[in-house]
Amino acid sequence: MNFKLLAKIAAVLTLVGIFSTSAFAGKVEVLHWWTSGGEAKSVAVLKDLLEKEGHSWKDMAVAGGAGENAMTVLKTRAMAGNPPTAAQVKGPAIQEWAQEGLLANLDAVAKKENWDKLVPSVVTDVMKYEGHYVAVPVNVHKINWMWCNPAIFIKAKAKIPTTWAEFEIAAQKIQKAGFIPVAFGGQAWQEATVFESVVIGQAGADFYKKALVDTDPKALNSPEMIKALETFKMIKKYTDKNAPGRDWNMATSMVIRGEAAMQFMGDWAKGEFTAAGKNPGSDYVAIPVPESAGTYLFNVDSFIMFNVKDSGAKAAQNAMARLILGNKFQEVFNVNKGSIPVRSGIAKASFDDIALRSMDEFAATSANNTLLPSMAHGMAVFPAVQGAIYDVVTKFYNSDMTAKKAAAKFVTAIAAAK
Ligand code: GAL
Repeated sequence: MNFKLLAKIAAVLTLVGIFSTSAFAGKVEVLHWWTSGGEAKSVAVLKDLLEKEGHSWKDMAVAGGAGENAMTVLKTRAMAGNPPTAAQVKGPAIQEWAQEGLLANLDAVAKKENWDKLVPSVVTDVMKYEGHYVAVPVNVHKINWMWCNPAIFIKAKAKIPTTWAEFEIAAQKIQKAGFIPVAFGGQAWQEATVFESVVIGQAGADFYKKALVDTDPKALNSPEMIKALETFKMIKKYTDKNAPGRDWNMATSMVIRGEAAMQFMGDWAKGEFTAAGKNPGSDYVAIPVPESAGTYLFNVDSFIMFNVKDSGAKAAQNAMARLILGNKFQEVFNVNKGSIPVRSGIAKASFDDIALRSMDEFAATSANNTLLPSMAHGMAVFPAVQGAIYDVVTKFYNSDMTAKKAAAKFVTAIAAAK
C-alpha cells in the first residue's frame, strides 16, 4: 500500500471539500427578516457559501423591518418545541434565549477562529452568556444617518442641513419646490429609529445613555427629553400623508426615485441604493442626522443557534458560524448590506466612502465614549422595556399628546415593563 500517495489524495480531497461535504453535510433552517432588495442580496451570500461546502439552507424569511414579526414567529416555533436551527436575534434578547437553555454553545468554533482577538469586546460581550459564545456577530450598522437626494436640494436651492434649524429652512424650500422633504415610514420601529437619532444628536451621548440605555427616570422625564420629543414631532410637518404604515425600503425608494429629499435611517438603506445601481457622492449623499456628528448609534446583527441532535445539522451550524466571520462573507455581505465588518483584518478596497467613514467613526467614537447601543434596534435594553418605549414614542408621534406628557409617560411605562 502506498501510504504517501493515499495521504496526498486525502489532502487533496480535504482541500476540495469532499470530506466535509459528504461525511458531515447537514441542513440549517435560518429564520431572519432580510427581505428587501438589498437585504435579500446580502443574505444570499451566506446561503451560497454554505451550499458550496455541501450543506443545505432552508430559508425562513419573515418580512417586517427590524424583525418584530420575525421575533413573534420565533417565539411561536420555540414554544411548540420546533425552533429553527439558526435565528437572527440581537442584543440583550440573546441573554433571554440563553436563559431558557435552548442555545448551542459555539465556543469550539469561536476558539478555533480566534473571535476573541478579531472582534471588539463591545460586541463579543453581547454574544456570550455566562462567558460562553451563544451567538455569532455578523456586521455593524450605524443608525444615525441621513440619506439625501442632492438633485432635489439643487432644484430647491436648499442646503443639506447639519442642524435642526437648517433642516426646517431646507425642508420648507423643498416643500415649495414640490418635493416631499422627508421620506418617512410610519411604523413604531422606524419612529423609534428617528427619535433616538434626535435624542443623541440634540441632547448628547451622555444624556442618551442615561435616558435610553440606563432608563434613568430623571433623564427620561427632563427638559432635554421634552425638547428632543418636540424636535422629533416637528419632522412630521415635512412628511407626506401616505407615511403611516410605509415600509422603510419604500421610503428609501422615494429618495432614490427623486420624490423625497431625505430619509433618516440606518445604513441598511445604503443596501437599497446599491441594489438600485446608485453611486454615493453623486446620486446620493449620506451625512449624520442633524446635530449628531461625532456620535455613533450602533446596531450589530447576529445569529443564535439552537441545540440540535443531528450531527449533520450541528456541522452545518458550525460551518455557518465559521463562514459568517470569515473574510469572504464579511467583505461581500457588508458591501451589499451597507454595514461594516464586525471583525478586524478585512480588506477595505471594495468599501465606499460611506463605509470607510463609518469604520473610522466606529473607532473614534469608541475612544470618546460616544459609541452607544441603539435602543430602537434592540441593542440597549431588554425587549419588554424597548416595547414600552416604542409604545410611548408612537402614541406621542401619532396623537396630540404633549411632549411633557410623553416624557412623564416614559417613566411609568418603563417601570411597568420591568
Ligand atoms: C435592523 C437590522 C438590519 C436591517 C433593519 C431593517 O434591525 O439590524 O439588518 O435589517 O433592521 O429590517
